[in-house]
Amino acid sequence: MPHIPSREKSLAARRLSPARVATSLFDASFATRPTVSASAPGRVNLIGEHTDYNGGPVLPLAIERRTAIAARATPRWAFVSATDKKVHEVDIDAPMRQEWTDYLVGVVRELRVLRSAPPGAEIAVASNLPIGAGLSSSAALTVAAAKAISLLAGRRLSPAALAEVAFRAEYHQVGVRCGRMDQTIAAHGQRGAALLFETAGGTLQPVPLPGRLWILETGVSHRLTGSAFNERRRECEEALAFCREWRPGLSYLAQLTPAELPEIERRLPPPLVPRVRHVVTETARTRSAAAALGAGDMVTLGRLLVEGHESLRRDYASTIPEADFLVEAAQAHGAYGARLTGAGWGGAVVLLAPPDREARTVAELASEFQMRYGRMPVTWSTRAARGVRRETL
Ligand code: GLA
Repeated sequence: MPHIPSREKSLAARRLSPARVATSLFDASFATRPTVSASAPGRVNLIGEHTDYNGGPVLPLAIERRTAIAARATPRWAFVSATDKKVHEVDIDAPMRQEWTDYLVGVVRELRVLRSAPPGAEIAVASNLPIGAGLSSSAALTVAAAKAISLLAGRRLSPAALAEVAFRAEYHQVGVRCGRMDQTIAAHGQRGAALLFETAGGTLQPVPLPGRLWILETGVSHRLTGSAFNERRRECEEALAFCREWRPGLSYLAQLTPAELPEIERRLPPPLVPRVRHVVTETARTRSAAAALGAGDMVTLGRLLVEGHESLRRDYASTIPEADFLVEAAQAHGAYGARLTGAGWGGAVVLLAPPDREARTVAELASEFQMRYGRMPVTWSTRAARGVRRETL
């Protein structure tokens, strides 16, 4: 065996696409070839956090890291992932097991409703997305699975249909009370563009994003199931019920305007006020951010990102000190702006900086983070990438 220095080894490993890893894992686990392969990306949300389940806008982009599925129709359902390499034979109608396979079970159940699932399938999963980093590895998994499994049944579902299957799998089957942002961007993502998704009307508008952005993983794992996420949703529903007493006909919190905030402060129970303030101000910020990005005004976009983070910290109480530290340091080191992306309570910071100094900014931040927390954050860059696709075998 030739000696491969570990740096080269890891570069070689990175070059192997998730689709190729899923295919070889399939071969090794099931002793036969897959007949279908599909993949879907993770996402970064530039801004518009916790607005999707409040009828507001979001501005996510699909990233270059993906989850891939290799599959073949068989009489049984059996799943294997590159992470645990164990073949899980599952009964689709049995109670959920509280493990990763639940997401696939949820997808199969939802595809059955559409008569778009085969009687069974063997499925291998591989991903180069970090798990628990708030980059939506679960939507990448469910959207890729919806594509691969429906293809096995001879169906070609539209991106919108795939996003809906994936959303229903996560919301109704797994029980995470998420909005529709993650599945939508995993299905509709476009190369070189973020998407302004107005969740109330369902419109999608591409906004060109030609440059790179950086991801700084805080190393604090966020897990959506069982987190404070469902509690925040409950608070938003409660706030909406209060607001409807004086604004009958209000459908979503995001319909309220910043001018109504003083009245909201007078009428709502104090603990709910900051939650509504976040939703209302974030809705306005997200639309301004899309306009700034469209105009190439990165300075304004960066400022809005930082304001968004501050609102999450102060009003939505969903940030963590590690992310607050990185966002503050980012400004001091010449970034346009940065913010914690995704649901929060852990995960990763997204950072935008001028191209001529972005690598230096990130390196300086990483070493400050190490001085403060005693460990290097994992950092990498990405561009806006394509959504779900069929892979060649
Ligand atoms: C998670 C959910 C999304 C969205 C974000 C917060 O990623 O899945 O629907 O609510 O959190 O913006």
